[in-house]
Amino acid sequence: MGEVRVICAIGQRGQLGLNGALPWEGNPGREYRADVARFFELTKGHVLIAGPCTIGSFPDWARPGRTLVVVRSTDDPKSVLERFSDRLVFIGGGPPVWRAYAPFVQHWDVTRLPYDGEADRYFDPAWLTAAASRAD
Ligand SMILES: NC(=O)c1ccc[n+]([C@@H]2O[C@H](COP(=O)([O-])OP(=O)(O)OC[C@H]3O[C@@H](n4cnc5c(N)ncnc54)[C@H](OP(=O)(O)O)[C@@H]3O)[C@@H](O)[C@H]2O)c1
Repeated sequence: MGEVRVICAIGQRGQLGLNGALPWEGNPGREYRADVARFFELTKGHVLIAGPCTIGSFPDWARPGRTLVVVRSTDDPKSVLERFSDRLVFIGGGPPVWRAYAPFVQHWDVTRLPYDGEADRYFDPAWLTAAASRAD
């Protein structure tokens, strides 16, 4: 298996998503724009694995040089990751995807943004210590 990483951005209380988009979608603040730019810079040239809603909500992800992989609940995470054993892989969410792939993640890169409003998707700190369920 290759190197597996996560980059995500959360609000002050772990807010991740709202109505199928980022809770702070459209916020022109410097921190928000810098976070998106950093995401694109760090994932350039690598594999990005995410659920169908997340892939659909970020059309810009389909930029040249990125390999996008939509995963479903019927996929076996270990088998998916083994297909990319010579690549750097980013797990792009949403929450059920992070939960399923968490045991294989070697590096979590979590940006805390100043947002403190509504959300319907939250970061779960238990993902960081999910190694016990690793299947090998
Ligand atoms: N803040 C951030 O950094 C960030 C990043 C990404 C996403 N988000 C936000 O998160 C929200 C989207 O997430 P979402 O969870 O609603 O939708 P999602 O990204 O489509 O993820 C959930 C789907 O992933 C699929 N899946 C793949 N492997 C799975 C597994 N092993 N177990 C369970 N499901 C699996 C399932 O699709 P099937 O049921 O079709 O199999 C499930 O319905 C949006 O609001 C988005 O903006 C935020």
